[in-house]
Amino acid sequence: MTPSLAIIEADITTLHVDAIVNAANESLLGGGGVDGAIHRAAGPALLDACRAVPEVRPGVRCPTGDARITPGFALPARFVIHTVGPVWHGGSRGEAGLLASCYRRSLRLAREHGIARLAFPAISCGVYGYPLDRAARVALHEIAASAASLEQVVLCCFGRAAAEAYRSALRERSGN
Ligand code: APR
Repeated sequence: MTPSLAIIEADITTLHVDAIVNAANESLLGGGGVDGAIHRAAGPALLDACRAVPEVRPGVRCPTGDARITPGFALPARFVIHTVGPVWHGGSRGEAGLLASCYRRSLRLAREHGIARLAFPAISCGVYGYPLDRAARVALHEIAASAASLEQVVLCCFGRAAAEAYRSALRERSGN
């Protein structure tokens, strides 16, 4: 089954879906952008849950390209899937592969936890500087390849530029 795909402009913390994806950093101890918004909306219990995620090496609970899942606490979403996108350095340091891995691993966690409706922000497209058009192509490719078990994937854009980038990438994929 191919999930339905929705491209919307919204604050991801308000969405009534099973899980929202957080664009986190490797410490999983919060930050700005969507990470800060999710922690503010979920409440302090989210930080406690993140602190309980074991470190794979000092200061790193979730390596770049990987994903971890916690409850959503005060959020409407039951779960938060934290993933760490690559910092954009021009595209020659494996950024596309790492971003693809963020989507793939988040989708795998969603599948393993019986999540039917999942919302993604534009991972790495803020502070980490990943160009929206390139990120949108990576996201749509991985969702098409790995989201079969889901009912719906929401691409939650925080502004028109991101939404236009996703819509343009979707048109490109469907050949028109
Ligand atoms: N809902 C949906 N999308 C949002 C929201 C929100 N409430 N707030 C921000 N965004 C969008 C941004 O506009 C951007 O398109 O999320 C996308 C990702 O931007 P960032 O949050 O800056 O994340 P990223 O670029 O992956 O950088 C991650 O920033 O906040 C820190 O701790 C985080 O160190 C990590 C880094």
